[in-house]
Amino acid sequence: MAQPINNTGYLQSPNHPAPPCVMVIFGATGDLTKRKLFPALYNLAKANLLSREFAIVCTGRNELTIEAFREQISADMKTFASDGVEADLWEWFLKRIYYTHGDLNDAALYQRLQALIQMADAEHQCHGNYFFYLAIAPQFFGPAIQQLGAAGLTKEEDGKWRRVIIEKPFGRDLDSARALNAEIKQVLDEPQVYRIDHYLGKETVQNIMVFRFGNGIFEPIWNRRYIDHVQITALETVGVEKRGGYYESSGALRDMIPNHLFQLVSLTAMEPPISFDANAVRDEQAKILHALSPFTPEEVLTDTVRGQYDAGELNDERVPAYRNEENVAPNSTTETFVAMKLMIDNWRWADVPFYVRTGKRVGKRVTEISIQFKKAPFVLFRDTSIGSLRTNRLVIHIQPDEGISLRFGAKVPGPIMRMGAVEMDFNYVDYFGSTPSTGYERLLYDCMEGDATLFQRADMVEAGWSVIEPILDIWSALPPRSFPNYGAGSYGPKEADELLAREGREWRKLDE
Ligand code: BG6
Repeated sequence: MAQPINNTGYLQSPNHPAPPCVMVIFGATGDLTKRKLFPALYNLAKANLLSREFAIVCTGRNELTIEAFREQISADMKTFASDGVEADLWEWFLKRIYYTHGDLNDAALYQRLQALIQMADAEHQCHGNYFFYLAIAPQFFGPAIQQLGAAGLTKEEDGKWRRVIIEKPFGRDLDSARALNAEIKQVLDEPQVYRIDHYLGKETVQNIMVFRFGNGIFEPIWNRRYIDHVQITALETVGVEKRGGYYESSGALRDMIPNHLFQLVSLTAMEPPISFDANAVRDEQAKILHALSPFTPEEVLTDTVRGQYDAGELNDERVPAYRNEENVAPNSTTETFVAMKLMIDNWRWADVPFYVRTGKRVGKRVTEISIQFKKAPFVLFRDTSIGSLRTNRLVIHIQPDEGISLRFGAKVPGPIMRMGAVEMDFNYVDYFGSTPSTGYERLLYDCMEGDATLFQRADMVEAGWSVIEPILDIWSALPPRSFPNYGAGSYGPKEADELLAREGREWRKLDE
C-alpha cells in the first residue's frame, strides 16, 4: 500500500485536546444524539482530542433519572459506536454525563439546567466555558436561545466562552431564515453561532479546498476556459424512512439544495481565500452564493426538474412508492428528486453550467462532484482511425467511495491508432487507511476550538434561500401533474436527462 505523505499543511488534523468546557445537548433522547453525537464525542476522547476537563449536560422530553439516562446511552453506544467501546474510557465518560428533563418553553427548565451546568462545571473544572447543541425541532431554536439568554447562560465574560450549535433546517424559506437570524441576533453575537451543515464534516468535502488550493496544477485550468461544465450529484438509495412527517413539509429541494448542495457548489467554485481564517473562507463561499444567477419564472420551468419516486425494485427488494410511505399523503405532491442548472455570474464561471441533482430511492448511493473539461481540438487525429475524442473528467468522490479520479485518453496498444479512456484513481482508504468517524468529530472539535470555518454564517444561509425562493414559489403555484414520475431503483425522471441532453450533454453514468 502507498504511504501517506506526512505534510498535510493547512486544515491538518488537530493534535491537541480541545479546551475545557461543558457541552449541553438539547434533544438528548433523540436520534441524532445517540447515532452521531455520543459516538463522535467518544471518538474524540479516544483520539485524545477532548479535554480531560469536560462534562456533558443533557436535556430531553423523557422523564429519566441521571442513572437511567446513563444506562440508556451505554446501551445505545453498543449499537452506534463506530468501532467498539473500551470499558475504561466509557467509565470516564459516564461519570461526566448529566440529565434533566423538561419542556423547552418552560423557564424552569433553564433554571434547572443552569444549576446542573454549574455543578458539572465545578465538579470537572470546565473553566466556565459552555456550548449548547440544539438537536431539537426547528420551531424550538428561537425559543430555546431566548430562554438561554434570559437565564444568563449565553453571556461571555472574564474570557469564558458561550457558543450555540444549531442543526438544520435553518428556516423553510428566505423570510423564516431571516426571522430566525434576527431572533438569534437579539441574544447572540454572530461569532457565537455555529449553524451546522453536516456535509462540511465529511473529510472529502474538506479536501476540496486542499485539493484546489494546495496544488499548483489545478487552479490554472479551474475556469471557463478549460471547464465545459460541472455536475454535482447527491443520490441516495434510502426512501424517507420514518421521516415522512418532516419530509412532507420539506421535500428534496429544501432538504438538500440550499444547504448541502450549495456547500459543494461554493467550495468547488470559490476564489482562493486570502487565508484559512473562518471569515476569509466564508466570504469567498458567500460571494459564490450571491453570484448564483437568480431564476426567472421561465427559467424555473426550463432549468429545474422535480420528481417523486414510484414503487420499484432496489437491491433485489420491492420498495413502496413515496405516496405509500408512513405519514405521507396518498396524493402527495412533495418532490423526492430535484435536478437543476445553475449559472454563476462571475468572470471565472460565465457560461459554465453547474448541474446539480439529488434524490431518494435511486439505483445507487453516490455523492460526487464531476468536473468535465473541454475537448481537445480534433484536428490532429482527423486522418487516423480515432473517431472522436472523449473529454477529460475529474471526479471528486465524496461517498460512499472517497477519492479522486481523473479520466484521460491513452493510445490502445497495437498497430492501429486507437484511443481508450483510462482512469487514474486515488482512493482515500487505500492511501490513508480508515479512521472511525461519524462525520461530527471535526465539527464538534472546531466549535470547542472556536473555529467557525466549517459552519454557515447568517448571510450564507440567507443567500442560499434567496436562490431557491423563485423555485419554491413557482412549484407551489403549479403543482406537478405527473407524480410519481420515476421508479425506485432508477436514476430519476427522464426530464432530468433531458435537461442536459438538450444542451448536448449527459449525466455521468454512475455505474461506469
Ligand atoms: C440530511 C437530510 O440533511 O442529509 C436527509 O435531511 C438526507 O434527507 C441526509 O438523507 C443525507 O446525508 P448523507 O450524509 O447521508 O449524505
